[in-house]
Amino acid sequence: MEFFSADERAFSDAFLKRGYAIIPLANKARLDAVRGKIHALALAHLGLKGKKAPSLAEFFDHTERYVGVEGLNGLRLAVINGLNADPDLMPGFFGMARKFIEWTVGNEIAMQRGINLSIQLPGDDSSLLPLHSDVWDGNSPYEIVLWLPLVSCFKTKSMYVLPRRESRKAYAEFKKDKGFNAEKLFQRVKPGLTWLEVPYGKAVLFSHSLLHGNRVNEEKTTRWTFNIRLKGLLTPYGVKELGESFLPATVRPATRIGFEYDAAEKA
Ligand SMILES: [Fe+2]
Repeated sequence: MEFFSADERAFSDAFLKRGYAIIPLANKARLDAVRGKIHALALAHLGLKGKKAPSLAEFFDHTERYVGVEGLNGLRLAVINGLNADPDLMPGFFGMARKFIEWTVGNEIAMQRGINLSIQLPGDDSSLLPLHSDVWDGNSPYEIVLWLPLVSCFKTKSMYVLPRRESRKAYAEFKKDKGFNAEKLFQRVKPGLTWLEVPYGKAVLFSHSLLHGNRVNEEKTTRWTFNIRLKGLLTPYGVKELGESFLPATVRPATRIGFEYDAAEKA
């Protein structure tokens, strides 16, 4: 018996095999608007006005010309604070990837509160994520991550993943190895890594149980990416719990009735 449409089946099979999918975003105008807002927030934070104000393309590509590594965190926080003032921000991101999120996770979704923004300047080794799986830190294996770049990402400007089958094999091997460290594991799995090529307007959905990470951005332009955790509302939680870390995004009426019924039973 087949309950999925042919498109869903093909997507699902491919995701199970690889553990990730590169997806086209719906509503590019919304993405452009977010990027425009970030440009304005960043320029205001950095005091770049008039003739000193770089164009949007120049600023995103060459952020390193306008801020040093020491100023990155302040810039990041200023942008996040400015964006978070907009209650449509999270629904907007959700809407851009909704079909594929639902195909991957289900249609009752819990979404991470607040966004993570990462900025990686060319040659900057201060904000690297060594090879890891988020599940090692106690995050739920039922979660996925929406990794959404604001610039086109390729080669070392992107992130890498070890596809699912290889990730599982490497994990099984590593569990037996007492002398493990991330760099040693990286060298071992390096030939099998996939550097995700994600043009602006696309995003990645990936299971954070995969081995993944990034290296020094050796390309000439800066990387700007958001990452947002998502999971099935009723699937098991890890260290990040519903309420504190996750926001119930889409809750269907039958589930709401069930929650209310259970709460009344307990009262
Ligand atoms: Fe991660």
